[in-house]
Amino acid sequence: MVELTLPKNSQPKPGKVWPKPEGATHTREFKIYRWSPDDAENPRIDTFHIDTDDCGPMVLDGLLWIKNKIDATLTLRRSCREGICGSCAMNIDGTNTLACTKGLDEIDGAVKVYPLPHLPVVKDLVPDLTNFYAQHRSIEPWLKTVSPTPAKEWKQSHEDRAKLDGLYECILCACCSTSCPSYWWNGDRYLGPAVLLQAYRWLIDSRDESTGERLDDLEDPFRLYRCHTIMNCAQTCPKGLNPAKAIAEIKKMMVERRV
Ligand code: SF4
Ligand code: SF4
Ligand code: FES
Repeated sequence: MVELTLPKNSQPKPGKVWPKPEGATHTREFKIYRWSPDDAENPRIDTFHIDTDDCGPMVLDGLLWIKNKIDATLTLRRSCREGICGSCAMNIDGTNTLACTKGLDEIDGAVKVYPLPHLPVVKDLVPDLTNFYAQHRSIEPWLKTVSPTPAKEWKQSHEDRAKLDGLYECILCACCSTSCPSYWWNGDRYLGPAVLLQAYRWLIDSRDESTGERLDDLEDPFRLYRCHTIMNCAQTCPKGLNPAKAIAEIKKMMVERRV
């Protein structure tokens, strides 16, 4: 029988239970993953209660209420609060999503909040996205051209512009990549759904003149071909995008250029 040994200090332990806010008539329980590099302790799950009459309707509102009123050391990322920046991505109620667009009323029972899975943790709900961003940079996500630069702008027809719909909306939140089993096990070499969706966005941009080089760069057993169409990525994307479809389109382009 295979015996798995968990890394030292990786098992979450029950943590601190904070009392319910005094005088509150409507409360909601949060169970939040906590881990700090400053001590050698195992991660723990802290329990908090928020006063829902004094707090906004989203999970992010609850987390900020806790940070402002109960425990200022709770560490998380957020910026826009509008589902645009992608920085508040975390695992909520078992699904990777954005804390600012996930309503408390969409969750039954305690609100369980963990960092995005299978990434090193910087602190509490903040994952280390260094590798994810380096992979994004590796696909050279900008317009590459050889033609002389036009005096005014690179033009694009309405039809060609429409081909970018379903791709340009990606906010690089990493919810999809961190829900992909292939990325969990080969994240150092497999680019993952988010970065491949971005790669496809540049491959089909009618203004880009580097399609062949871009495909050459992806023609690799790990960078592209670790996708096994498990579809977790499309199910979890908080923007309703379909990275698996984009990956399938890249594979199709690979085949088409061979014939
Ligand atoms: S495809 Fe969706 S889940 Fe993946 S990074 Fe982009 S917005 Fe986030
Ligand atoms: S379809 Fe591909 S990229 Fe999406 S979760 Fe499955 S293996 Fe990962
Ligand atoms: S805070 Fe920007 S997407 Fe949630």
